[in-house]
Amino acid sequence: MSSKVKYAIIGSGMMGREHIQNISLLGDTEVTALFDPDDHQLSLSIPLAPQATIYKDFRDLIKDTNVDAFVIASPNHTHVEILKEILANDSRAILAEKPLCTKAEDCRAIAELADSYKAPIWVAMEYRYMPAVTELLNRVRAGTVGDPKMIAVQEHRFPFLTKVGDWNRFNINTGGTLVEKCCHFFDLMRLIADDNAVRVYASGAPDVNFLDESYEGKTPDIIDNAFVIIDFASGKRASLSLCMFCDGSYFQEEISVLGAKGKLECRVPGPDRLWAVDNLDDLGHSTGFTGEHRESEIVFSPRSPKGPIRETVRVDTSLQLAGDHQGSTFYQHQRFHDVLRGKGKVEVTVDDGLQAVLIGLAAEQSIREHRAIEIKEL
Ligand SMILES: NC(=O)c1ccc[n+]([C@@H]2O[C@H](COP(=O)([O-])OP(=O)(O)OC[C@H]3O[C@@H](n4cnc5c(N)ncnc54)[C@H](O)[C@@H]3O)[C@@H](O)[C@H]2O)c1
Repeated sequence: MSSKVKYAIIGSGMMGREHIQNISLLGDTEVTALFDPDDHQLSLSIPLAPQATIYKDFRDLIKDTNVDAFVIASPNHTHVEILKEILANDSRAILAEKPLCTKAEDCRAIAELADSYKAPIWVAMEYRYMPAVTELLNRVRAGTVGDPKMIAVQEHRFPFLTKVGDWNRFNINTGGTLVEKCCHFFDLMRLIADDNAVRVYASGAPDVNFLDESYEGKTPDIIDNAFVIIDFASGKRASLSLCMFCDGSYFQEEISVLGAKGKLECRVPGPDRLWAVDNLDDLGHSTGFTGEHRESEIVFSPRSPKGPIRETVRVDTSLQLAGDHQGSTFYQHQRFHDVLRGKGKVEVTVDDGLQAVLIGLAAEQSIREHRAIEIKEL
């Protein structure tokens, strides 16, 4: 590998640009190739990577030899085709945005191809790398609460933003809200439980958001609120409370881990640019006003002595400004970059991506069928 690590971005919308910005912060890197079918999105991305070669077809981009790693940040339903094309024809590293794919059979097909792929494949699960979440994970591993028995995740936040071509308004494109958004939380639950899920029960509905929108005569069908309960093989259990019409919540994510020694929580605010900001453009980008800055926190509540211990977890301002995910995209890229330099190993595998999607799909099916779904049914 030359002195700079060279990246190709496939899909340069909101998340693709967050990747470009964070790759640039690493220093010895260069984005050398870009593909996006949307000219407007390209026009927003090119200034962030002015040296990149622009492609009109991702199949041509894949042939570019001036690339060390592919970053896939296209809509969920397009991941399978792009991954299949790279896995069948290439042997360079891949960072693929979550969810791995939108269907169980597609995830499994990718997992099979990945088995014989000669280069690292990393599924982008940024939430693992939010500083407060990383701290929570480290403390759980260090035994702060004892063996984790219960994991409770609450996400109360603003509605989905407008996306290019409105792909995120329909289950057919996203896999469903519990796949699209919540695979992050199912991934964290698996990591904390150090186990795989066996059974999922969920209740949810599209109750509030986007009901007045229509796309070629169709109303969006994605749910905006749900409760999900997950049983792990070991008997550990987890729950998710999701509400996506809760723009006013001070914290966006609250994650609790409970064991015989006590309770450990982390609380993470949403992006500053969306807090108390009313003047967004139609893609949810701030038109100038910067919202109030909120800090993450971590709280340990031992059973004895009583009294929670609260700590603030700060995130570097330059990292806050390079995306919507509390600096996590930067920290994830740091680790991925280590892998590209031969110094680390893949931390979020294709199997991690597959397992998180399976829990999300089971939860979506449970909502439709009003019954608990065994993961082995999928
Ligand atoms: N990990 C996270 O925290 C996180 C956050 C946001 C989005 N995402 C994921 O990133 C991906 C992109 O989401 P986004 O928010 O940037 O959406 P977006 O709509 O802002 O951007 C998607 C881009 O992909 C382009 N595109 C459409 N079809 C394509 C194709 N076949 N090949 C390549 N590009 C194509 C679109 O023109 C658009 O510019 C999704 O998979 C989403 O789930 C992850």
